[in-house]
Amino acid sequence: MAKPEKHVFVCTQNRPPDHPKGSCHARGGKSLAEAFAEEFESRSLWGQFKLNTSSCLGFCEEGPAVLVYPHGTMYGKVKTEDVVRIIETHLIGDEPIDELKVSADLWE
Ligand code: FES
Repeated sequence: MAKPEKHVFVCTQNRPPDHPKGSCHARGGKSLAEAFAEEFESRSLWGQFKLNTSSCLGFCEEGPAVLVYPHGTMYGKVKTEDVVRIIETHLIGDEPIDELKVSADLWE
């Protein structure tokens, strides 16, 4: 398998509704992962980039969380409307999007 240029992890962790941390699943993580997959498919990006769902990335209150390597960029409160921008600007354009990142205090 060829090494991908970038690897995207979308948290889809689920927890019981009364859990104090909540979960990315409850905040739309599954729909977000599906939106990434649809864009990867329509743009034929599967060989160039890799996409995986993941369990908790440690930013539950900031979810849905998306982590992109090799930059190690942690995005928080990502919406399906942000997917095209992340793909075009970060994955293809190689420019992480500052305004979608979690606070620098949280992810140094
Ligand atoms: S549940 Fe997604 S970061 Fe914790």
